[in-house]
Amino acid sequence: MDAGQPGANVNGQDRKFFDVFFMVLVILAGIAVGLFGLSRFVAAPVQTEWMQTDERLRAQVEERIRPIGRLVTDEAALEERGEVMEPAATVATTLTGPQVYNTACTSCHSAGIAGAPRTGDTAAWRERIAQGMDILYQHSIEGFLGEAGYMPPKGGRLDLSDEEIIAAVDFMIEEIG
Ligand code: HEC
Repeated sequence: MDAGQPGANVNGQDRKFFDVFFMVLVILAGIAVGLFGLSRFVAAPVQTEWMQTDERLRAQVEERIRPIGRLVTDEAALEERGEVMEPAATVATTLTGPQVYNTACTSCHSAGIAGAPRTGDTAAWRERIAQGMDILYQHSIEGFLGEAGYMPPKGGRLDLSDEEIIAAVDFMIEEIG
C-alpha cells in the first residue's frame, strides 16, 4: 500500500474499526440471546405457577374453554338451580268416549259402513251386547273379523290407549239406550 496515497491509512483504520465494531455487535447479540435464555430459564417455573394460580387468568381460560351446552340429569342439582320442569305429558291428553268415537269410530259406525253395526241401531247391537262388555272391549282393542265384516284394531287408531277405546265403546252402547 502506498503511504503517499491519501486515504490509504484511513482505509486501513476503517477496516479495523469495522472489524472491531462487528465483533462487538456479535458479542452483544450473543449476550442478549444468552440473557434472554437465562431469564426464560429462571422465570419459567415462576411464570407457570403464576399462570396457574392467577384468578383473573384462570377465569379467562375457563371462559374460553367453557362448554357450549351442559346436560344435567341429577335432579337435586336441577332443583337447586330452579330448573325442574313439570312433566308436560300429564296434561289431559286422554280423550273422552265421544271424542274418540267422533274421530276414530264414526266413519264406519255412524252409517254402518262395511258391515259395521250402526250406532243407535238397537237390533244390530242386541246380540253383540249379549256377549258381554268384555268381549266388546276386546274386539274393539284387538280387532275382530266377524260374519259382517272386519273391525280393525282400535278402529285403525293404534295411537289411542285401551282406556280411550273402552270409553268409546261405552259411549256407543249408551247411545243405544
Ligand atoms: C273401518 C271401519 C271401522 C272402524 C273405523 C271402526 N269399526 Fe268397529 N266395527 C267394524 C265392523 C265392520 C264391525 C263388525 C264386525 C263383524 O261383526 O263382523 C265392527 C264391530 C264393532 C264392535 C262390536 C264387536 C262385537 O264383538 O260384536 C264394537 C264394540 C266396535 N266395532 C267398536 C268400535 C270402536 C270403539 C271404534 C273406534 C275406536 C270402531 N269400532 C271403529 C268396523 C269399524
